[in-house]
Amino acid sequence: MTTVGVVREAGAGERRVALTPDGAGRLRALGLDVLVEAGAGAAAWFGDEGYAAAGATVTDRARVLADADILVCIHPPPDAGALPEGRMLAGLLSPLTDAPLVRRLAEAKVTAVSLDLLPRTLSRAQAMDALSSQANVAGYKAVLVAAEAYGGFFPMLMTAAGTTRPAQVLVLGAGVAGLQAIATARRLGAMITGYDVRAAARADIASTGAAVLDLPGPEATGAGGYARRLTDAEARAQQQALDAAVARFDVVITTAQVPGARPPELVSTAAVRALRPGSVVVDLAAGPLGGNVAGSVPDQTVVTAHGVTLIGAAHLPATVPQAASTAYSRNVCALLPALLRDGVITVDPADDIQAGVVVTHDGQIVQPAVRTALDNREAGS
Ligand code: NAI
Repeated sequence: MTTVGVVREAGAGERRVALTPDGAGRLRALGLDVLVEAGAGAAAWFGDEGYAAAGATVTDRARVLADADILVCIHPPPDAGALPEGRMLAGLLSPLTDAPLVRRLAEAKVTAVSLDLLPRTLSRAQAMDALSSQANVAGYKAVLVAAEAYGGFFPMLMTAAGTTRPAQVLVLGAGVAGLQAIATARRLGAMITGYDVRAAARADIASTGAAVLDLPGPEATGAGGYARRLTDAEARAQQQALDAAVARFDVVITTAQVPGARPPELVSTAAVRALRPGSVVVDLAAGPLGGNVAGSVPDQTVVTAHGVTLIGAAHLPATVPQAASTAYSRNVCALLPALLRDGVITVDPADDIQAGVVVTHDGQIVQPAVRTALDNREAGS
């Protein structure tokens, strides 16, 4: 019988778990065995007893790593390269940027499955879409983080002490996270404006009832429904237009990403300087490659000399661990049947889901986009 394992996530501040007790029960119903490291779900309030009640075996980490045919994770565990030959590791492995991990997994003859590479536009893939499920959590939490740091109310309030004006919130980038941020800020009563370089995303903003920031600029839809990287001249023109537009907002939430490239800088130093003291900017794209906001620092809050709060917030899903884990676990439970035939791991390159997500198999890097990214990296280094 095929055994699925889950261990405690190792990253600093990571409180999610890849499989919840509900997920363990779903996998048991599919006829799979489930091994769980003791305490794996504790930081998300999923206790060992819940896993045991769902039919999983709670045990120590060494046994999970040794005995699981499929190890499910959010981030790859640090000891992933030590998995026994022929095993499968499934999670968000960032294979386009983490070349050393891909090579280690290929050398160890581990079958690496990465949800980052799911062909998201296939309708069969939607229940497996961990990028969307986690971006949804991030967009929600971004608004709460912004509201917490902001010195005023989001809604217009009419009280005996007077009427307050609603906060003006601008959301830059209206993909999954941005649209959820718009919906959440709206529930809090703010006045929302959204902006995106893709025409389809601008239509999505309008359909929520939010205002659409009307900037001159190119339609920039690229492959797979994602944005393409703007040319340098287009990016400069976009930044200048945004510099003039951003100053009137109290809260700016940025979510803009371009697959495989550094995030575009949308809020410049000049735009930050033009914001009123007390304004708050939350940068969901702030990571090691940079972010959408000049001066934002990953995982830190910086208050500028004139009183604008910049929050680098790329890891918000980990701060809503119960909801984020529940959604992720459902994604995993939807994914696993696509990797099994008659309950046994079966790698089938003709399967459209597998053609996207299977990165390494039998000692080879089999995903073409990953091979190209690694070759380009080596050619450039
Ligand atoms: P993402 O995280 O890659 O980017 C977030 C947003 O930033 C995108 O809307 C993008 O257009 C925008 N952006 C990029 N550069 C920008 C710039 N210079 N200025 C302003 N905005 C910029 O995208 P996410 O949220 O992962 O997905 C984006 C889209 O992918 C979805 O809205 C959808 O069209 C497509 N998608 C389709 C799915 C489906 O068909 N089931 C599932 C998931 C995504």
